[in-house]
Amino acid sequence: MTEKPTIAVLISGSGSNLQAIIDASERGEIPCRVGVVISNKADAYGLVRAQKHGITTKVLDHKAFATREEFDANLVEIIRGSGAELVCLAGFMRVLTPVFVHAFPNRILNIHPALLPSFPGTHGPRQALSYGVRFSGCTVHFLDEGVDTGPIIVQAVVPVYDDDTEDTLAARILVQEHRIYPMAIRLFFSGKLAIDGRRVKVPGEPRIPEFFHRNPDA
Ligand code: GAR
Repeated sequence: MTEKPTIAVLISGSGSNLQAIIDASERGEIPCRVGVVISNKADAYGLVRAQKHGITTKVLDHKAFATREEFDANLVEIIRGSGAELVCLAGFMRVLTPVFVHAFPNRILNIHPALLPSFPGTHGPRQALSYGVRFSGCTVHFLDEGVDTGPIIVQAVVPVYDDDTEDTLAARILVQEHRIYPMAIRLFFSGKLAIDGRRVKVPGEPRIPEFFHRNPDA
């Protein structure tokens, strides 16, 4: 039996997206396994989630490095050492420099809690609420040198209600994040993703961006 390829997942906090990826892997819904989980925060709950599944964890505290580039070079070394074929940023709250981005060209995915290019950076749900949009959602994209600017692979849409708070909107978005991150990983390993400038196409599967029609009362 051939070994499944491994992925590295980078986190800073709760790790619910990491959990969705681990669960998808264990259910055989994505053709890879999580080889290593790296956090820049020693108290990230995602580390506990990984350990419960016997996954190797590493903590790399960004405060221990004089520059972002030094931190990134160390991250690159750990990931190369793990043999991971794909890097998934899952709530990793550090901006990565070109040192990192160029080490894994077109092999780094990020998830963001907004419909990019709207509301990049931190606090996507808070930004969406204060702008007053009627729909928001989440985006999985390839990482490039900008902040949340790389080519988009999958997006999902959720409604924004008048009585939403940042927490209720973030929770509605998170449900969709847990669906589309494994979906994007599956597409990546299908080998069919074709990056054409800003556009990511999936020849043979041209209808990937499902629109989630949901009962507004649900
Ligand atoms: C998720 O909503 C993710 O999209 C967001 O952090 C949360 C992490 O949750 N990421 C960003 O805002 C990146 N700019 P999790 O730790 O439970 O997966």
